[in-house]
Amino acid sequence: MKKIGLITSGGDAPGMNACIRAIVRTARAEDIEVVGFYRGYEGLINNDSVMLTKSSVSNIIQRGGTILKTARSARFQTPEGLQQAIAVIQQHQLDGFIVIGGDGSFRGAAELAKNSGIKVIGCPGTIDNDLVGTDFTIGYDTAINTVTEAIDKLRDTAESHDRIFVVEVMGRDAGLIALRSAIAGGAEAILIPERTGDLERLLEKKKNWRKSKKSKIIIVAEREEHGGAVEIGKILKKEWPDLDIRVTVLGHIQRGGSPTCMERVNASLIGYYAVKALQQNRTNEMVGIVNKMVRYTPFQDAVKHLVEMNPEMIKILEVLSM
Ligand code: F6P
Repeated sequence: MKKIGLITSGGDAPGMNACIRAIVRTARAEDIEVVGFYRGYEGLINNDSVMLTKSSVSNIIQRGGTILKTARSARFQTPEGLQQAIAVIQQHQLDGFIVIGGDGSFRGAAELAKNSGIKVIGCPGTIDNDLVGTDFTIGYDTAINTVTEAIDKLRDTAESHDRIFVVEVMGRDAGLIALRSAIAGGAEAILIPERTGDLERLLEKKKNWRKSKKSKIIIVAEREEHGGAVEIGKILKKEWPDLDIRVTVLGHIQRGGSPTCMERVNASLIGYYAVKALQQNRTNEMVGIVNKMVRYTPFQDAVKHLVEMNPEMIKILEVLSM
């Protein structure tokens, strides 16, 4: 293996830079060259590239975002776009390719592996944690810490005013950011896309709320069945006209910031094992860390959206929030 390509693709996530650094440093230690392409598959199609050296990845482990920039490329999903990307890969004489991204990026990576003949490995990069085959995707730990910090701040003002705060978090179709940050922030309830009836349960639960504690934090995942926190806020204001309710949508703040220690380590391990995977002639797989051990999962299984909400965690949240 002499030369590999690298992109970050899809939504950015804190820890992507730590992963880029690990890939470049591991590859260079083995005398493998690394070509980075800017803005994901878009930059690959346009041959917008940079040779990455050990020093070009200095001082990036602590930075959020991605130095390679990122994009969601519609062109790559066309046969012409795919062919153009393959032509660029051939022009650079790449023997392997690494994609840091989420499920859309891995569907693209699977196409690339199938049609280009070179080995393609994925590193799970998304704040949503919605990929099968890794305990934590790159970006998830930082995002849940950001949300927890936000909840703590909202709790201060909520408590001072005896208010209810309905807080919307990201996660696309997954409620995993909602669940963990709700436990960490001591939230009173969650509404998530994985199940129906959360609103009814919340209305029922209010009957048993302790009178001594008037402030409450309700975490709403962006794609729960009623359409998110703004809608839930409207419903609750009607149902509970005597209560003082505010809505906060955390939005893209969850995607930024310096990665946590755990994030940096996880991303570094994943990046290291991604290079090792290519050297072992692996292809069409995502690298993950499960129970502290490296695991390789075929792209088609990684993107199945079958990451389960642990029912025990939901039960624990219910008990602790009473
Ligand atoms: O997949 C990461 C994510 O942040 C989701 O949680 C969210 O639904 C989506 O991306 C937002 O995408 P965009 O940055 O394109 O608005």
